[in-house]
Amino acid sequence: MINIALPKGRLGEKAYRIFEQAGYECPSIHEENRKLIFENPEKGVRYFWVKPSDVVIYVERGAADIGIAGKDIILEYEPDIYELADLGIGKCRMAVACKKEFCDTRDRTLRVATKFPHIARGYYNRISREIDIIKLNGSIELAPILGLSDVIVDIVETGKTLLENDLEPRETIVDISARLVANKVSYKFKNKEISAMCQALRAAQANK
Ligand code: PRP
Repeated sequence: MINIALPKGRLGEKAYRIFEQAGYECPSIHEENRKLIFENPEKGVRYFWVKPSDVVIYVERGAADIGIAGKDIILEYEPDIYELADLGIGKCRMAVACKKEFCDTRDRTLRVATKFPHIARGYYNRISREIDIIKLNGSIELAPILGLSDVIVDIVETGKTLLENDLEPRETIVDISARLVANKVSYKFKNKEISAMCQALRAAQANK
């Protein structure tokens, strides 16, 4: 049995459809209920829904053999796992954004609000800019509007949230998409199954 951690939400549903097309369907997953685990013994798969940022924790510790995680989460937590494939879904970018009128004169420490302190720190280190990180857990766009920060480092997908809050994107830090990740021990001991699955997923992805 391969244990698969899927991120709860739209991305997870999209990812599941790729597994389904690849021949790893699990019909009970479509039932309307609040169950978190679904399995299809015939296909040798067990899926479970986890909070998107927790996928890499399940995979790193071996509670899941494989999982689907955003590159943002992988870069932020740097888990000790294998990244097997780019699924080409959940495409967005990590960017700096701020109020339209903001101009960084570099005469004082830059206040950066973000859910991704590690990525933000790395980026500003690389450009040698001194910053003060304000770690938030959501609705990051509020921070510059209320004067809590000068800029934000956050995910931009369509850009709508920024636009509707009178903010604008500035530098792109990194492009993001969903990745198929694997536990290192599982990859060794279930190599045949995981490799076959990986190949089938790539084929299903290519046929889309
Ligand atoms: C993410 C991100 C932005 C928004 C970007 O938020 O933090 O707020 O999506 O998408 P857009 O460019 O298409 O508007 P999420 O929905 O994950 O909520 P949260 O960060 O507020 O928890």
